[in-house]
Amino acid sequence: MKILVLNGPNLGRLGTRQTDVYGLTTYAELVQICQDVAPEADVRQTDDEATMIGWLHEAADTGTPVVLNPGAWGHYSYALRDAATLAPVLIEVHLSQTAAREDFRHQSVISAIAKATITGMGVDGYRVALRHLLQMSA
Ligand code: DQA
Repeated sequence: MKILVLNGPNLGRLGTRQTDVYGLTTYAELVQICQDVAPEADVRQTDDEATMIGWLHEAADTGTPVVLNPGAWGHYSYALRDAATLAPVLIEVHLSQTAAREDFRHQSVISAIAKATITGMGVDGYRVALRHLLQMSA
């Protein structure tokens, strides 16, 4: 089953970016981890909000389930939320435990329209989200 795994800004720098918070797994390793769980996972990353909104429209048009790590956009982008609302099913993932971090990270504009939100499990959060989506479709 095709699943879109969509990663927002700065997530391409995993493995070198704030490793105390986000861990040592690189973005390339994250892609492999996702494909080990779901071989047909299409894993993408962008720093451009319009591109991300286009991918969410694609998910809506093709009926493709989504795992979304919106990065910082998730805290404030109503445009991203409006696009995410269109996906047939969407699980929000954050590597870090956002509730334990700065106040501005406590708010998610995505959570209310997500089937589930997984935070603080590092890359395992992606595994859990993908397994759940695979199970839903079985
Ligand atoms: C993040 C948490 C966000 O607050 C932050 O802006 C990110 C990464 C996470 O995966 O923990 O870029 O989404």
